[in-house]
Amino acid sequence: MLHESAVDLIREAFHYQSRFEGSTMVFKIDFPVTEVSSFPYLMKDLALLAKTGFRVVIVPGAKERINAVLQKYDIVSRYAGNVRITTTSAIPFVEMAAFDAATRFMTGLSADRVDAVIGNFVRARGLGVIQGVDMENTGIVDKIYVNSLKRVLTQSIVPILPCIGWSPVGRPYNVPSDEIALAVSTALNAIKLFIVSANAGVRPGAYQVPPHITLGENGRILRLTPQEAERIIELNAPNSRDDPALRELRLAFQAVKAGVDRAHIIDGREEGAILRELFSNLGAGTMIYADEHEAIRELRHSEIPVILRLMEPLVRKGNLIRRSAEQIQEKKADYVVFEVDGSIHACGALHDWGDGQAEIAALATDPAYTDMGLGRRIVKFLIDRAHREGFCRVFVLTTRTHDWFEFLGFKEVSAESLPERKNYDRSRNSKVFALTLSQYGSDDESHKNTAGIDFADLLISRH
Ligand SMILES: CC(C)(COP(=O)(O)OP(=O)(O)OC[C@H]1O[C@@H](n2cnc3c(N)ncnc32)[C@H](O)[C@@H]1OP(=O)(O)O)[C@@H](O)C(=O)NCCC(=O)NCCS
Repeated sequence: MLHESAVDLIREAFHYQSRFEGSTMVFKIDFPVTEVSSFPYLMKDLALLAKTGFRVVIVPGAKERINAVLQKYDIVSRYAGNVRITTTSAIPFVEMAAFDAATRFMTGLSADRVDAVIGNFVRARGLGVIQGVDMENTGIVDKIYVNSLKRVLTQSIVPILPCIGWSPVGRPYNVPSDEIALAVSTALNAIKLFIVSANAGVRPGAYQVPPHITLGENGRILRLTPQEAERIIELNAPNSRDDPALRELRLAFQAVKAGVDRAHIIDGREEGAILRELFSNLGAGTMIYADEHEAIRELRHSEIPVILRLMEPLVRKGNLIRRSAEQIQEKKADYVVFEVDGSIHACGALHDWGDGQAEIAALATDPAYTDMGLGRRIVKFLIDRAHREGFCRVFVLTTRTHDWFEFLGFKEVSAESLPERKNYDRSRNSKVFALTLSQYGSDDESHKNTAGIDFADLLISRH
């Protein structure tokens, strides 16, 4: 018989699949990962994602393979700092190693009958002469051929990008795979960059980390904001260029800063790590996520007319109760706004009614901006705030939006359960929905929403 948790997981997987079908995910995979015994399973998982409608892009790392090939042919590399100088005589061997690494992914996907193509999607230019040193065939990304990539992706073909780029006249350059992964993730507006690594990652003890970082089992860091990731890089600055785990953290940080929703660093030697990271609340690796605090912030006095205007049509429709400017001013600190490109498109508030209970109220999204996740993110932000401020329960009074709150994991409760200080207007007959925050982190199953997502996940979703 299927265990309850397995059923939840299946629900969550279907929910996730339908929500993000057609989204692009980039996988930068270290070469040593291709040599561990679980590599065929990793390829099966990637094939599964590609078959279920995700747009999968693979960027194989090839450093170790290049080292081995150059060594085999007795080619000694020179370095400028920590950058290998790929000489004109070495570039054919570097190409051979890069394509060998890429072929391993092609082989893996072929075993699962997923179409794939190793392509020339990167235009490169040479680093030139730096401080008198000719960097020869060492290059950087000049441009990603986005249209070509999209043509391939829309046909459900997995593009594989070896660490070689070509100049407009066809001169090959050795380009770091990290750079390609970053450029392709941003050029394709990827929702995720997976850094599939062959090391154990940044862990407290081995590295200096700021206090209050969320740790998971085995002392692994569960998640970081870009600010926290940057702080770790700064704290460990002397090693950050050479240390593989710190370089990965830097790559993840840069990707999120450049607009990728989430970057995940996972240990590719662990079987099932990608699926676990995607489909379980705690994941298997370290997630770097764009900080909602950058978009959601407190209401300023001058913006009260703006949110009144935002709420007005919803008040007229009967979704929201009418509030005056003075009433909002009185509780201004309770309000938050969602700013997109310098203007406000959603708002919400968290009111303290005593008895450890807080109300989520005045939630409104500009009609031109609905269904973009603004409402959900404000709720998530307010739940997070309530949790941090020690509330046991958040509740909401709603006349028309009960389905939505139910989907977010709220449960209908009786008006009698409201705190004493909260006046319940019987004439409005609103439904009361609540979420119990004390269950956060417990094994209690009752706080799961219909999609099977633990509401802890709502606070900072791995999705
Ligand atoms: C409820 C509200 C805040 C949602 O805002 P939003 O920014 O569009 O929300 P999200 O983008 O996070 O979620 C949109 C999803 O919820 C669904 N949804 C929106 N309103 C819904 C409702 N009343 N009932 C059920 N589902 C609803 C949408 O269809 C969409 O589904 P999809 O993701 O499958 O496409 C917005 O519709 C609103 O301003 N409503 C009027 C004010 C109100 O009722 N506030 C709550 C009382 S405090």
